[in-house]
Amino acid sequence: MSRTPQGQRASLDKQPHEVAAMFDGVAARYDLTNTVLSFGQDRSWRRATRAALGLRPGERVLDVGAGTGVSTEELAHSGAYAVGADLSLGMLFAGKRTRPSVPLLAGDALRLPFADASFDAVTISFALRNVNDTDAALAELARVTRPGGRLVVCEFSTPVNPAFRTVYLSYLMRSLPAVARAVSSNPDAYVYLAESIRAWPDQAALAARIGAAGWGRVAWRNLTGGVVALHRAVRN
Ligand SMILES: C[S@@+](CC[C@H](N)C(=O)[O-])C[C@H]1O[C@@H](n2cnc3c(N)ncnc32)[C@H](O)[C@@H]1O
Repeated sequence: MSRTPQGQRASLDKQPHEVAAMFDGVAARYDLTNTVLSFGQDRSWRRATRAALGLRPGERVLDVGAGTGVSTEELAHSGAYAVGADLSLGMLFAGKRTRPSVPLLAGDALRLPFADASFDAVTISFALRNVNDTDAALAELARVTRPGGRLVVCEFSTPVNPAFRTVYLSYLMRSLPAVARAVSSNPDAYVYLAESIRAWPDQAALAARIGAAGWGRVAWRNLTGGVVALHRAVRN
């Protein structure tokens, strides 16, 4: 872990206190930085996540790693009751300020503060990659979901076209940290972002891990050529 005047970045072993502190450091400008670095694509990725969950009015959906609640707010547009949980109090406080009507609470993906089978659907956007035990988190998501309930994981993935993949990786490792220096409140966190995306399993490998953690009918769909993948599954 290295420190900067503005904050700090986590290392790839993703210790929870480092991850939480890193997100505390980006919280103030998280929503803006996201939209700038993704060229505005983040909005369509969130809409696609909501659609993939197939939410109905009155259903209960949990958004894990909700951060500022930007992903939770989108889910509520379906008429479902959406609640967000996150490890970083800085992200939660930023969300409470900007989205006071979105229910957000402190909670660790590895030990969620909910009883078994509490939700009709669970989702995790751009957060599973930051949890230090992916398989345990997927199993914990299954625990709080009712049998037959749905999971959608929205996460950075591997672009399918080799030429586009080369351009994208160059953006990730060179341009993204430079742009982050201009807009983020903790630019170092975006070096971690690039490294953690490169180290993340591809679409098929993540699908296999979801299937091994209590989920069935696993499928995925690529967004923006595979920059992001939506993995869907149903609780066994
Ligand atoms: C990149 S942000 C994503 C926020 C939001 N879901 C979105 O789509 O923009 C990742 C979030 O995951 C949270 N996080 C990381 N590890 C976590 C854990 N073990 N339990 C709960 N949240 C965690 C971080 O605090 C951070 O707010």
